[in-house]
Amino acid sequence: MRPDPLAYLGDELRALQEQGLYRHLRVLDGEQKAHTSVDHTSVVNLSSNNYLGLTTHPELRERALDALRTLGVGTGSVRTIAGTMAIHMELERRLAAFKKTEAAVVFQSGFTANAGTVSSILGRDDVIVSDELNHASIIDGARLSRATIKVFPHRDVAAARRILEELPKGQRTLLITDGVFSMDGDLGPLPALCDVADEFGCVMMVDDAHASGVFGSNGRGTVDHFGVHGRVDVQVGTLSKAIGALGGYVAGSRALIEFLYHRARPFLFSTSHPPSVAATCIAAIDLLEREPELIDRLWQNTRFFKSGLQSLGFDTGLSESPITPVIVGEGSLAMKLSDRLFQEGVFAQGIGFPTVARGRARVRTIVTATHTREELQFALDVFKRVGTELGILQPQRAGQR
Ligand SMILES: Cc1ncc(COP(=O)(O)O)c(C=O)c1O
Repeated sequence: MRPDPLAYLGDELRALQEQGLYRHLRVLDGEQKAHTSVDHTSVVNLSSNNYLGLTTHPELRERALDALRTLGVGTGSVRTIAGTMAIHMELERRLAAFKKTEAAVVFQSGFTANAGTVSSILGRDDVIVSDELNHASIIDGARLSRATIKVFPHRDVAAARRILEELPKGQRTLLITDGVFSMDGDLGPLPALCDVADEFGCVMMVDDAHASGVFGSNGRGTVDHFGVHGRVDVQVGTLSKAIGALGGYVAGSRALIEFLYHRARPFLFSTSHPPSVAATCIAAIDLLEREPELIDRLWQNTRFFKSGLQSLGFDTGLSESPITPVIVGEGSLAMKLSDRLFQEGVFAQGIGFPTVARGRARVRTIVTATHTREELQFALDVFKRVGTELGILQPQRAGQR
């Protein structure tokens, strides 16, 4: 029999098992909701990015079905050949107006929006100055661009400035940060970074994947929250988190968008969204513009749950958003905490290296607008019980904040 040339992968998986880091995929039995069934277990769901509960919103469903009936299930082509429908152009116009920019382009995902944009607007002679905790899609885009990558410590604007100071005058640079950091829930220091970008003439880019639909007026993101409209050249967002469907987009100048139409490889070489996805996203923007109360509910739940975890004595890091990590240290302990929470009816994923630094493993919680107070209180009670059982709760910190 032919020896398996992929046998080494099995060795790597066994090593993960030995370290307690091997994960089975959790499977939802039904819809993505705040209270749902996963692996045949009824759970309060604190693991999704469905911030506003739009994955199951009746109006979005209807608009998707409408598009499905009138426009079909797929587009049969990439955008640049025959895969651009009027509904794709309408979505891009709506996103540009929502983000207060000249234009916008939609990609198949937030990942491809970041990777496709960074890799096409920079080249081997350029320099990318990037926060150490920026999303993997930014890192991959930076690698693909072949530009020199300079990483600054998390949120350290002075360090970013020092990197720029040392570069030759006239060097083309991209200064890039997440708006909300996905594993810590803290915010990029946008106003200070924009000042540095202005001073050194950098292209300024913000990935607002977790901020769109969450921060700023009607969910316009951290650029709006910090009042830096017109100072961020490239704004990325996703349609897969608060918007509830699938996709990513870039908002900026007409020239930027036209350039991405011509050069961004995922846009050029991968088929466009089914029209039902575009219709769903347009319906979501309508909703954000019409019912900002949904975002208020998200923030009420966020404050309740975050302060609940903190007063129990958990280490929640520096989160300022609906993403609240419960940092425990070792990867195997985070996985154990996640498993015990699950057994008790709370679904919150464990996250370890390489997604976060070694020694900073955590269970990440995300609340949504659609969780009830009872569900959140239930989750807090379970966290208290299991945290005590595993020795994670630090009683001396309880109630100190
Ligand atoms: C900060 C950040 N940027 C981009 C993405 C990618 O978005 P999408 O899931 O739409 O590909 C994610 C998603 O995990 C993210 O957390």
